[in-house]
Amino acid sequence: MVIPANPGTVYLVGAGPGDPSLMTVRGLALLRQAGVVVYDRLVHPALVEEASPTAERIYVGKSHAHHTLRQEEINALLVERAQQGCVVVRLKGGDPFVFGRGGEEGQALAQAGVPFEIVPGVSSAIGALSYAGIPVTHRGVASAFTVVTGHLSDPAAEHDWAALAKAGTLVILMGVGRFREIAQRLLQHGCAPDTPVAAVRCGTTSDQVVVQGVLAGVAERVIALRTPAVIVVGEVVNLRAVLGWFSPEHAVPPGFLAEDRIVPAAPLGAPAPRVPARFEPAVSS
Ligand SMILES: C[S@@+](CC[C@H](N)C(=O)[O-])C[C@H]1O[C@@H](n2cnc3c(N)ncnc32)[C@H](O)[C@@H]1O
Repeated sequence: MVIPANPGTVYLVGAGPGDPSLMTVRGLALLRQAGVVVYDRLVHPALVEEASPTAERIYVGKSHAHHTLRQEEINALLVERAQQGCVVVRLKGGDPFVFGRGGEEGQALAQAGVPFEIVPGVSSAIGALSYAGIPVTHRGVASAFTVVTGHLSDPAAEHDWAALAKAGTLVILMGVGRFREIAQRLLQHGCAPDTPVAAVRCGTTSDQVVVQGVLAGVAERVIALRTPAVIVVGEVVNLRAVLGWFSPEHAVPPGFLAEDRIVPAAPLGAPAPRVPARFEPAVSS
């Protein structure tokens, strides 16, 4: 499929939740034409390898311990490379507009008069759960879902926990380390102690691990998972018993990531095994 990229334009592209083959056709076509690729920590290294060998590849991933560039510096980099006439792909895990700061980067580009386009991606908020066999909505079970951040550090941005406790399926990103407090708040605001909960780490990849339990008892096992993980709270979790379809050993399309280690799925309710950190910051080449 021919999708020509325009010089001097920044494409904010969603890389999908993990499995490289979940990136959109449009995103991949643009990535292959880019002169500059600016990418994050949760972008699978195999996708970065899809860029042209002559492309400038710039890693700007952030983690708690490690900040390569501040957000303002990333914005300035995108503006600068576009103004030099490059096709710039800004590659982000999941969808650029779901807790991805894609909106901020778009604002900076608009302010600088730099043309940009958004290429949506499959967000981990839904994609990781699909690979765990958990639909966010299901007729007769949940008719709505809410996606929130688990960051609780800003009291001014405290969630309306009473509303969340009765809003159907609740999906929490970036909440693993704080799940004890999150569970407490949900229980205090009316969630039943036996509300089903699952957490999916490294969803859609060969490293996928799922833990499952109930709100009053699963916190320690959720916290024991390392990031990245999506947590889901609600009755839809029980559908996993029938809809669980994915075995991590089928995660990697032949020839795509041949070097990846295969990690068996954890049995339901088992503690998470330690798995290799394929999502650790990749190094720019
Ligand atoms: C900064 S947010 C970015 C979300 C991203 N824009 C998206 O749409 O998926 C990072 C969080 O997304 C979640 N996440 C991203 N990829 C994941 C994956 N493959 N499996 C589980 N959770 C993931 C984790 O909660 C992680 O802490």
